Order: sequence, then structure tokens, then C-alpha cells
Amino acid sequence: MSNTNPMTCQDSLIDEIRALARDRNATILAHNYQIPAIQDLADFVGDSLGLSQQAASTDADVIVFCGVHFMAETASILCPDKAVLIPDLEAGCSLAATITADQLRAWKAEYPDAVVVSYVNTSAAVKAESDYCCTSSNAVEVVQAIPAERPILFLPDRFLGAYVEMITGRKLVIWPGACHVHEKIGEISLAEKQREHPDAELLIHPECGCSTACMLKSTLYFDCADSHVYSTEGMLKRARQSPASEFVVATEVGILHRMKKENPTKRFFPADENSVCDYMKRITLENLREALVHQRFEVKVPEAVADRARLPIQRMLEIPGSRHRHDQTPAQSPAP
Ligand code: 13P
Ligand code: SF4
Repeated sequence: MSNTNPMTCQDSLIDEIRALARDRNATILAHNYQIPAIQDLADFVGDSLGLSQQAASTDADVIVFCGVHFMAETASILCPDKAVLIPDLEAGCSLAATITADQLRAWKAEYPDAVVVSYVNTSAAVKAESDYCCTSSNAVEVVQAIPAERPILFLPDRFLGAYVEMITGRKLVIWPGACHVHEKIGEISLAEKQREHPDAELLIHPECGCSTACMLKSTLYFDCADSHVYSTEGMLKRARQSPASEFVVATEVGILHRMKKENPTKRFFPADENSVCDYMKRITLENLREALVHQRFEVKVPEAVADRARLPIQRMLEIPGSRHRHDQTPAQSPAP
């Protein structure tokens, strides 16, 4: 009798991936939005900041990036001598696609004195035109590290930009970009969810269309002054530490897997169950195996671009808020 149990097929695929990774001295890094099976087999699961720090410090020869293209590019910039693979080259990012290097050059020409702060969700070519990178977990610290008299161009996420303005009290010039998943998480769905789960704590990613309005109204649920509750990793940390037993989670639904796994006695409800990033979900167990078998698809940033893009990423990693979270102490890079 043939064995048709799908779990058995998946388990053997996972075993094969683990064996291939061992043979090739590969490390598998996965973002918090990846499918559960990939999160469970990865060597490290985290947010954009944690993943770039992990890439910078790994001893592996190969990094297989289960995330989206800009994340693999960042790993390749930080580790130019390692092979960085992404299982599907179509795993892009709608937010990163809202600004090109040409557009940024034209914008900079309008503000010649400005310091450029680029969210990590940007292409390597855009990072190469930037002074600082930031992620959702350290955007506030990065902006606070820039002298008060310098104007700041902040790109490309307008909701994160508005949030950083609100917390730092500093006026930014903000690029009008947004993520197609997060901008749809609006106030209405959150208000409905809060009515359904009145005792739930609200966890919000700052890319959300609702973020600034909701945070202003919901300090009861979401402590704006806590500068660690920004990113997907910040939300996970808050879920572990909070005394609440129920949470409404406003971000991509992939994060619920880790939340539930780490907090089996707590309950988590998505603000919107349709918040699915189709780019993140392009990575599957099958194409992950193919990536390891054929050493594909290698993400390589041209040296001239990588050399310029490395500096803003390193500056970001050196900001104290970034170091705290992962005990990383890279060499100092001169500020712009
Ligand atoms: P985090 O850095 O918070 O994980 O966010 C990355 C991202 O793409 C959010 O949509
Ligand atoms: Fe990009 Fe949005 Fe997907 Fe995050 S959720 S990777 S910002 S498209």
C-alpha cells in the first residue's frame, strides 16, 4: 500500500533540506512572515534588523535567504564573500519598488543639505544613494542620532515616516511610498477587531495605514513611548512580555505562527486575515530545496554599488538601539 500521508512527504522534504544545508555549510535565515514549515526549519527567524545582523556574523559559506529580495541583497552587501541565495527571484517588495535610485537622486538635488535615511525595504542602488539605513525597530534611534539642524529625507514608507515624526517630534521630508499589505490595514478593521476582542492588546507594525492614528488613540493598548515595539520582532517580544492573554495583531499574518508557538496559553487574532504578503509566500519548501541542490539563485550586488550601500547599513548597525538588541559591536563608520 502506498503511503499518501502528506505530513510524511513534508517531513522527508524537511530532512532533505536540513541534510543539504549541512553538506553545503549553509545557514537558512527566515523572515517572520515566512510559511510555518520554513520558520520551523530555519536556523534563525527574525525581523529585517535581526536577519541582517545574523547574516553579518555567520560562519556559514552559504546564506539561504527565505525572505524578499532586498533582504538577500542586504546580506550580500554585508557578506560579499559568501554565496547568498534566494529560492525565488520574484520575491520582491511593493514598498521597495516605490522608489528608484534615479528618483532618489532627483529628490536629493532638491534638498542638497539633507541627510537621507532609507528604510531597509529599498534596493541596493537606493541604499547606495543614502546616508543611513533603518528598519522598523530602529528608525527612531537612527533619526535621533542625526544632528537636529540637518533636514532629513525619509524614505520610502510614509506611515513609518509619520510614526517617526510623531515619536521624535522632528519634521521629516517623507517619500509617499507604502506597502500594499500594510496600507490596507486601516482603522476600520482594527476598530471592529477591538470590539470583537475588547480585552485584547493591540500590536501594530508602523508600516500599517492605521499606525499613527491608532497609536494616538490607543496608548492604552500600545505604549508609544516604548521604542522597542516597532518591528515584527518587537511585536513578538511584546507578546511574550505582556501580561495580556489576547492580542489583535496588525501586520502580515505569517507572524502569528511564532506568536502562538512562543505563547501557547495566549490567543492571537489578525487585525485583517487577508494581510498576506504574496512576495514572502513565494518561498516554499520545494524551491528552498532546489536552491540548495543547484546553489541558485545567487543574489550578487555589483561591487561599486555594494561598497556605497554598505556604509549606510553599517551606520545603522552601529546605532546603540540596534546594538542592544543583538549585542553586535561592529567597527565605527564616519557619520555623513
Ligand atoms: P520588519 O523589519 O519589522 O520585520 O519588517 C519587514 C517588512 O517587510 C515589513 O513588512
Ligand atoms: Fe514588502 Fe509589504 Fe511584503 Fe513587507 S509585507 S516584504 S513591506 S510587500
